[in-house]
Amino acid sequence: MRIDIITVLPELLQSPFNHSIIKRAKEKGIVEIELHNLRDYSNDKHKRVDDYAFSGDAGMVMTIEPLFNAIEHLKSQRKYDEIIYTSPDGQMLNQGKSNYLSTLNNLIILCGHYKGIDQRVRDHLVTLEISIGDYVLSGGELAAAVITDSVVRLLPGALGDETSALTDSFQDNLLAPPVYSRPAEFNGWKVPDILLSGNDAAIDKWKFEQSLERTKRLRPELLQDWGDE
Ligand code: ADE
Repeated sequence: MRIDIITVLPELLQSPFNHSIIKRAKEKGIVEIELHNLRDYSNDKHKRVDDYAFSGDAGMVMTIEPLFNAIEHLKSQRKYDEIIYTSPDGQMLNQGKSNYLSTLNNLIILCGHYKGIDQRVRDHLVTLEISIGDYVLSGGELAAAVITDSVVRLLPGALGDETSALTDSFQDNLLAPPVYSRPAEFNGWKVPDILLSGNDAAIDKWKFEQSLERTKRLRPELLQDWGDE
């Protein structure tokens, strides 16, 4: 998979992609992540990428020209499956959307800033708008990092244990069961006996029951979504 991220702050995205699972996935050739500085696509002599809103509202708007140039430049090199704009108005990211995105080959993620991008980019170039939650971030970079992280860990070979992405919370609209490690008793606090029983079938049953109980207690609305995705 290849992910091209268009941003005014490429430095902000260096670190999230240079650690742990994403770093390893890049090293193994599972994903290629390229950061593009939007200013490199500005024809303005000061490399400006924003301007006042025609509506007269306070706040700057990311102008169409550099965004168009950047997207067209990338599109001339390969076909993109989705051109994503990170925005609080977008569809809410969830595991189903991350699963979908992980099946694609080439993505562009466009990070918004200021008061947003010229609407014509959204109307004519963007194919998918994604929000990571009902709150406003200072810019779309952190949202792009979240989307990328949640997608890359699903790519075959990205995780050490091939099956572990399947047992993540949300993968079947259930929260993950609790996990324990050694020692079996600490400070008088014990690991549930069943986990020490060696009975795999009983442990699987316990894990499912725990997932269900946790989901009912903490996120009951997820159970109503069963079968919706
Ligand atoms: N940009 C600003 N806020 C955002 C959010 N909640 N999700 C995605 N992109 C954003």
